[in-house]
Amino acid sequence: MENEKRTAPAIKYIGGYLATKKLKGSSGDRKEEVIENGVVYRLWNPYNSKLSAAIISGLKNMHIREGSKVLYLGAANGTTCSHISDIIGPEGVIYCVEISERSMRDLLQVCETRPNMIPILSDARNTDSYAAELSGIDIIYQDVSARDQAEILLANKEFLKPGGYAYVAIKSQSIDVSKDPRDIYKEFISKVSKEMELIETIDINRYDKMHLFVIFRKPIKSPNK
Ligand SMILES: C[S@@+](CC[C@H](N)C(=O)[O-])C[C@H]1O[C@@H](n2cnc3c(N)ncnc32)[C@H](O)[C@@H]1O
Repeated sequence: MENEKRTAPAIKYIGGYLATKKLKGSSGDRKEEVIENGVVYRLWNPYNSKLSAAIISGLKNMHIREGSKVLYLGAANGTTCSHISDIIGPEGVIYCVEISERSMRDLLQVCETRPNMIPILSDARNTDSYAAELSGIDIIYQDVSARDQAEILLANKEFLKPGGYAYVAIKSQSIDVSKDPRDIYKEFISKVSKEMELIETIDINRYDKMHLFVIFRKPIKSPNK
């Protein structure tokens, strides 16, 4: 049984639902918990989390894993952050950047029992305000719903290790409501692709209207380094 607990996967389908292995010692909503072979999992709702929606919609490049160091831009109340905290486990760390003080109050409660989550109240455009806290980021996760989302991502790219990945939820409505979402996605990808390699796009419209989920990789030899 102990061996089973150690080796249980961090993400799995249970009864047809996606779930993450609950971080030991973390508190949370008991109603979302399921136990399989003595291991506690938390159901991961694709309607509340774009990463869950992307995985269920067929994401192929999942590089967020045990021990990953993640910079999360647009942490909100910590829903998706908490599942990433489950996945990376006690050896990983997730820096949760959020601009809204209201959301930060909820986020702080989630961080209380999850030592691998570090809350940062800041505008993700002001990278200098948190640069000193970060080191060797493997993954950037971005879900900021801002008009200048591409520029924010590129400003934070400096923190990413060469060969590291960016997971991005693009919300077309936050960028320009008057344009065809397909043109917005194309523009976003073309801007970011000047500095990062496009790896995968996943249509998550079934769960979140007007969103595209995209993965980029920072080149090993960055042109802007
Ligand atoms: C769609 S919500 C994120 C939901 C969250 N990713 C989740 O899945 O649980 C977008 C969040 O980005 C935050 N945000 C918007 N602009 C930001 C910025 N410039 N810097 C940091 N956070 C920002 C908003 O306050 C909001 O909480």
